[in-house]
Amino acid sequence: MSADTLTVRRSGPLRGNCRVPGDKSISHRALLFGALADGVVEASGLGRGGDNLSTAAALRALGVDITLAGDAARVRGVGFAGLSAAAGALDCGNSGTTIRLMMGLLAGRPFESELYGDASLTRRPMRRVAEPLRRMGATIDGRVDPARPGDVFPPVRVRGGALAGIAYDLPVASAQLKSALVLAGLQAKGKTTLREPGRSRDHTERMLGAMGAPIAVDAASGAVVVDPEGWNGKLRAIPIVIPGDLSSATFLFVAAATVAGSDVTVENVGLNPTRSGALDALAAMGADIDIAPEGDALGEPVGRVRVRASRLRGTRIAGELALRSLDEIPALAVAAALAEGDTVFADLAELRVKESDRIVAVARELRRAGVAVEERPDGLVVSGLGGRSPAGGTVQPEHDHRIAMAGAVMGLSAGDETAVPAADIATSFPSFADTLRALGALV
Ligand code: S3P
Repeated sequence: MSADTLTVRRSGPLRGNCRVPGDKSISHRALLFGALADGVVEASGLGRGGDNLSTAAALRALGVDITLAGDAARVRGVGFAGLSAAAGALDCGNSGTTIRLMMGLLAGRPFESELYGDASLTRRPMRRVAEPLRRMGATIDGRVDPARPGDVFPPVRVRGGALAGIAYDLPVASAQLKSALVLAGLQAKGKTTLREPGRSRDHTERMLGAMGAPIAVDAASGAVVVDPEGWNGKLRAIPIVIPGDLSSATFLFVAAATVAGSDVTVENVGLNPTRSGALDALAAMGADIDIAPEGDALGEPVGRVRVRASRLRGTRIAGELALRSLDEIPALAVAAALAEGDTVFADLAELRVKESDRIVAVARELRRAGVAVEERPDGLVVSGLGGRSPAGGTVQPEHDHRIAMAGAVMGLSAGDETAVPAADIATSFPSFADTLRALGALV
């Protein structure tokens, strides 16, 4: 068995308290906005997964001094004007957040940059970012794929320059797109107003607001407004405390909810309401969940979450609930597979352009385990096993960390062994297997 393969066996109760690594989305922003600050930013609780390291490496290549030690980061902010052209192309690895936020940032810089990534990132659509940035005045070229006309894909080349603010209706609710346009808007002349078809995660608004950026959310419309007029162009260098990653924690919640007799508490986990749909979805399925708020970290609510095993039933995950649990669908699909009755996942077409086509990947992995699944253009219908054991086998993550972890969590209930190629798990949750083992899982 290769060192990169996890073997997962049916496990007895999972018990204990644990923590998860720092929130991946917030960690990207701590590094990136820290680099733009007026002074040194100390961040604690930083996620050290591959995606966050990609952001750190890209910023270093642009001349930013970043020291990482354990989960602490020290970022010597240089301001927008202090960034310099990289000597080579910027490697964004597996990280959509890195490439898209960097495109927005570099669109306002007076030099040319090239950004690329791994096989998974190379298939992800970038027109959604390129198009509005072009309208603002940047020149952006990407790879064209005859099989998907009209879009552009990495590698992308960004020739930045003077930008003008725009009023823009985002075609998809996307925090990556919104954040890219906010970073461009901060460098533009005039106001930028961004309206989304649904409310995506708002970490950018919260953190940049705390750093003194001219950003506001219109209470009535929910539009994000960036108005640099009269701003001195400086972001305050403030200490940043990063809570544990709710997306990582959700794999542990689902494990605890589905392995009989389990009682698991995850401490210090971020509970931002734009991200916490999975908790609501699990509660709707009948999961036994106790949420104890513990204050907030730089405007981000934090708390401890206790989950005990219970019988789960099917539910419907659609609309704003689907948007608020976007990254948690692979984990929730495992809960659905082990529940009683059908679970409908809808309004999730975006899953087709994540690290993998997650609708295809989830359907494939559930079917392998013997679960009936109907695939739909914007989601899935999962017919729960309702007490029967799923089958083991070999998970095919296709460079998608969340598919790998979902496969492992399903394996805890499987009748026979599950092999999980684990290399991709380090993208977001390098300590995943160790954490499960400490709770008593046979991994
Ligand atoms: C992220 C936003 C989400 C999410 C991704 C991280 C972010 O993508 O799926 O894992 O950090 O901004 P979109 O909002 O672009 O769909």
